[in-house]
Amino acid sequence: MNQEHIRNVAIIAHVDHGKTTLVDQLLHASGSLQRGSQDQKRLLDSNELERERGITILAKCTHIDWQGYAFTIVDTPGHSDFGGEVERILGMVDGVILLVDAAEGTMPQTKFVLTKALEKGLNPIVVVNKMDRPDSRADEVVDEVFDLCVTLNATEAQLDFPVLYASAKQGWVSKSPTDEGEGMDLIFRTIVSQVPAPKGDPAAPLQMLVSILDYDPYLGRILTGRIYNGQVKENMPVHVLNLQGKVLEQGRLTKLFITRGLQPEAISEAGVGSIISVAGLSKATVSNTIAQLEVLKALPAIPVDPPTIAMTFSVNTSPLAGKEGSKLTSRLIYDRLMHEMEKNVSIQVRELDQKEAFEVSGRGELQLGILIETMRREGFELSISRPRVLFKEGENNQKLEPIEEVSIDVDEPFVGTVVEKMGARKGELLEMKPLEGNRLRLCFLCPSRGLIGFRSELLSETRGTAVIHRLFHAYAPHKGPISSRRNGVLISSTPGKSVAYALWNLEERGIMFVDPGEELYEGMVIGEHNRENDLIVNPIKGKKLSNVRAAGKDEGIRLTPPQRKNLEQALSYIDDDELVEVTPTQIRLRKRHLNPHDRKKESRILGG
Ligand code: GTP
Repeated sequence: MNQEHIRNVAIIAHVDHGKTTLVDQLLHASGSLQRGSQDQKRLLDSNELERERGITILAKCTHIDWQGYAFTIVDTPGHSDFGGEVERILGMVDGVILLVDAAEGTMPQTKFVLTKALEKGLNPIVVVNKMDRPDSRADEVVDEVFDLCVTLNATEAQLDFPVLYASAKQGWVSKSPTDEGEGMDLIFRTIVSQVPAPKGDPAAPLQMLVSILDYDPYLGRILTGRIYNGQVKENMPVHVLNLQGKVLEQGRLTKLFITRGLQPEAISEAGVGSIISVAGLSKATVSNTIAQLEVLKALPAIPVDPPTIAMTFSVNTSPLAGKEGSKLTSRLIYDRLMHEMEKNVSIQVRELDQKEAFEVSGRGELQLGILIETMRREGFELSISRPRVLFKEGENNQKLEPIEEVSIDVDEPFVGTVVEKMGARKGELLEMKPLEGNRLRLCFLCPSRGLIGFRSELLSETRGTAVIHRLFHAYAPHKGPISSRRNGVLISSTPGKSVAYALWNLEERGIMFVDPGEELYEGMVIGEHNRENDLIVNPIKGKKLSNVRAAGKDEGIRLTPPQRKNLEQALSYIDDDELVEVTPTQIRLRKRHLNPHDRKKESRILGG
């Protein structure tokens, strides 16, 4: 393909504003896909968990040919846990489409990626989507986008953005909010006229910058990136340079391909400006340059962000281990984690001295939470430690910690609570902005440390009405201790099935986490004590047999429903001497040492 006929654009959109629907329409309009031949709605998000959580995690490139032009539409990951990835993705393109919901308008998530795009000097094309919505307020939304771009120091050229009005769902686009719409071709024409063709020397030796890493069970590492100079051909001998220009490996590109919709399509060569995927290398990763052997200079790239959070994954050592899962050994856990590291540059895995345990670090609790959920579904059982934030060392050995920008949309009556909760977590209120319908948007800067487990707390405090977004902001000097005042816990003294009568007796001691009839073990955390210290209790003790009713029957006992914790809540709840036991069907809390003597010994060693 002639370089002049290539257009690379990224698409920036808030969750649910219609990115997938739009790309799907473009594919159909170009004739690349038969209508109805694929799942209409979900072309870009292929991962099941992403779908459930409603976020797009893996960046994907979609190729579309239209009237002699080759377009690559690159999806941008929206979530803050994956900030560095955004910059790399944007590095591949020459323009961006900012897709905004005609009723909802600009959202904080859009802002982060847009900031990065404007900083890179990319000019936006604004597409106001969902024009068919009865509550559409397109003109206002365009003004909002303009104001936002001004705030983000956009240049004159960037502020002069073209605006298209669309209903991706109904398959039309228009140049004005009142005109009748036309077909999707208008979007292609606008991209062709607004987005420059990629630069680069077609006659120079090959230099391709890797921006995305994936893994395929048959092909191994899949490296996706843009060709900055030269051409690539199947089976070409190449070497891989890191940012410092050091050769990491030498090999052949055994497979070249592009992706249309969700279907990979093999190609035999590609020229400068193209975004393609290659296989055949075993060490190359994101930010590396794949080059012909005579090239010794690496392309400039953004180094991979360091992980900000770590948890220990270890073998499930609870007495109930192996009852629910099928993947239990440290060998299996190790292999699975290594596999994850292969395809996910932001995850790092380290074997710990302590046998059968691995430190897994990543870009936030959400990312690691998704990994744990995925492993659970695959049949793994694990013990997970409390997440801890990874600090960095600044000048003069100063301790630096990650700080995030947090925006919370909340109904007016909850503002006080949210401000107070964030204050306790060392969140600094930056801005308070009124939104539609008695809602407010609060913006804070807050240490990542303070945010562990905050999402679920926020949701329960606001009866599920708050919406929170987190973006990595910067490393800053440590903000001092954040008190995580939690009461002690109620610990089971014995194995066995919990008995309603015993739980009922324990209710005056605190809040229960378990139901009657649940299989328990010694050292398992079964509730929260209403005092500061831990308390060992017996939750399986029934009524004396001399009583009229037989033990275990317990008719007539009314128990308060237990407080069940999901994975996220469990991980943020536990203390350093506790673990979360994760199995395909259960999430249990436990003391690290199940036996009280071992706990005593440990606390004595630690001077507790
Ligand atoms: P994520 O994959 O979660 O990032 O969302 P997305 O931005 O890809 O949005 P998606 O295309 O999945 O659309 C989200 C919802 O909006 C779906 O229910 C779509 O049917 C709907 N939707 C998309 N485009 C339009 C539109 O033009 N009008 C209306 N009314 N709804 C639309």
